[in-house]
Amino acid sequence: MGDMSGRVFNFSAGPAALPEAVLRQAQRDIFNIADSGIGIMEHSHRGKVFDRITDETEALCREVGSVPDSHKIFWMMGGATSQCYMVPANLLGDGQTADYFNTGKWAGDSIREVPLYGGLHICASSEPTNHDRIPAPGDVRYSDRPVYVQFTSNNTIVGTEWRGEPEGIPDGSFLVCDASSNIYSRPIDIGRYGLIYAGAQKNLGPSGITLLIAREDVLGISPRKLPEMVHYKNHADWVGRFNTPNTFGVYLMGEVFRWILAEGGLGAMAEKNEAKSKVVYDFLDSQDFYTPHAREGSRSRMNITFRCPTGALDTVFTQEAEKAGLCNLAGHRMIKGMRASMYNAFPIEGAHALVGFMKSFAHEHASAARA
Ligand SMILES: Cc1ncc(COP(=O)(O)O)c(C=O)c1O
Repeated sequence: MGDMSGRVFNFSAGPAALPEAVLRQAQRDIFNIADSGIGIMEHSHRGKVFDRITDETEALCREVGSVPDSHKIFWMMGGATSQCYMVPANLLGDGQTADYFNTGKWAGDSIREVPLYGGLHICASSEPTNHDRIPAPGDVRYSDRPVYVQFTSNNTIVGTEWRGEPEGIPDGSFLVCDASSNIYSRPIDIGRYGLIYAGAQKNLGPSGITLLIAREDVLGISPRKLPEMVHYKNHADWVGRFNTPNTFGVYLMGEVFRWILAEGGLGAMAEKNEAKSKVVYDFLDSQDFYTPHAREGSRSRMNITFRCPTGALDTVFTQEAEKAGLCNLAGHRMIKGMRASMYNAFPIEGAHALVGFMKSFAHEHASAARA
């Protein structure tokens, strides 16, 4: 495993594994970036070095995602969770309605905030089946004139993922997407979105910074008086520097974008992510010891959720896996079982190692499961 001494396969759902090359570069730049004699976290956010980093991160983000000129790129703090209220506060007026897909806990967190600002309509929900699937187009009922339609492109806890965007949204509305856990894991047509946001700590960098990509006219919507810090437009106009940003986060995101380009861009990311998840799903489909949570057709390439025959075995599984260098496989407390998160930076060797471990664990515990 090259110079990976002391490192394990980290299946964490986020903060998550980062590319090794990026971490090595960051080790150097934390001490002294661009021969400035100052480390990245010690530079002023209004100085020349950080000016260049902001410009580069923005340009690399645009290049990687083929972000059209109609859309602005910026970042904010407060995590993706802050966007649960930022979205309706900025975009939804009194007496207007927004449509939301209820596909899991993170979608639910957004839904909870909407009535503080305007009307809420749930256009489809996977709740009756414990969020094991993405709603089929035939199960979707939009409201008459929603301002926007919001969906969560990858549901990190339950392990379901949209293959594309919701179809047939009503004329005059636009798409808003929480893409925290699959942003830049495959090519998407950003021109189809009014606003995309993503907490960085899965595919883009460290926690504490959220990437936003928004169409300019969407940023111009201003349905009410808001505190200055809550206005999207302020953050967009200053490209994330309305106040002091998480400078290290902006820097690291830039390095991750550079790494994605060097690896072949989003097409290459998509192929690798497909291949990695296929290793595990093919195995899950070939046996009957483990039960996958997500339905076929809705399965996430980022987070794979499954269970042993008993809850007690789930606990033994995660403990023994940890000892074998397969770390952070415990499922979220909401659905329990196991969750293997394999974002862009996670190597395919880890997927093979997991399947190898799953096979021997199933073999060893098959009789206990039958008893
Ligand atoms: C899809 C999704 N949305 C939102 C969040 C919340 O992010 P944060 O903790 O950065 O606020 C998460 C966290 O895992 C997530 O997976």
